[in-house]
Order: sequence, then structure tokens, then C-alpha cells
Amino acid sequence: MGRITLITLFCYLTLFAADLFDKKCVPCHQKRGVGLKPIFFNYLLYHSSERRVKRAMKEFLLHPDPKKSLLPKKGKIYRHHFDPKTLDKALDIYWDRYKVIGKIK
Ligand code: HEC
Repeated sequence: MGRITLITLFCYLTLFAADLFDKKCVPCHQKRGVGLKPIFFNYLLYHSSERRVKRAMKEFLLHPDPKKSLLPKKGKIYRHHFDPKTLDKALDIYWDRYKVIGKIK
């Protein structure tokens, strides 16, 4: 019984977290035509490991610095407003979503 409760809880948490990425990050990126997939692979090529990719993204999203951006800039840099905890969760999902494709390649 206890185990089932735990599994259910875990599923809910995972669902909730996936929701965060799909609701917060994806729609705006879609609307503005800034693909999250190309961004992911830019970061992956440049930073290579999971830890470094996540760290670089978090650093950038908390403290945007045009010099560190991995996107060609057309004008002012977009400022993301997320707290570090939310970012951690979102970046975990971001990573999990695309790393699989990276492995197949
Ligand atoms: C309201 C719009 C909006 C939301 C919400 C948003 N983004 Fe962005 N994001 C942008 C735009 C616009 C850019 C592109 C270019 C820029 O920095 O000028 C960008 C760029 C990025 C970059 C690349 C930074 C670089 O230049 O190297 C990453 C990584 C990123 N977003 C991740 C996320 C994640 C993760 C979330 C959710 C937690 C998120 N974004 C939510 C609009 C948004």
C-alpha cells in the first residue's frame, strides 16, 4: 500500500513538472519562433555534458549576458523571469525530452 502511494505521488510530481515546461517554456518559444530543440543542441554541442548544459542554461536564464548567448542576436536580449527552483525543474524536463534524440543520432 505504501509503495503504491509513493508511486502515485511520484507520477503526479513528474506530471506536474512536465506541465511546467510545456506550459511555461514551450508556448512562448513557439510563438516567437525560437525553437527549443535547436537551442538544446547548440548548448549540447558547446557544453557537452548534462551538468554543464544545465548550469550554462540556468546561468544564462538568471543572468542574461549577450556575450554568453548561443543564439545569433537580433536586437535586445530577452529576459527570462523565473526563480532558480522553477528553472531547475524546467531544465530537468528540457534535458530529458531531448537527450534521447541526441543518443539516437
Ligand atoms: C515569454 C517568452 C519566453 C518564455 C516564457 C521562455 N522563453 Fe526562453 N527565450 C525566449 C526568447 C525570445 C529567446 C531568444 C532569444 C534572446 O535571448 O533574445 C529565448 C531563449 C532561450 C534560451 C537560449 C538562450 C541563449 O541565447 O543562449 C534558452 C536556453 C531558453 N530560452 C530556455 C527557456 C526555458 C527553459 C524556459 C522555461 C522555464 C523559457 N525559455 C521560457 C522567450 C521565452
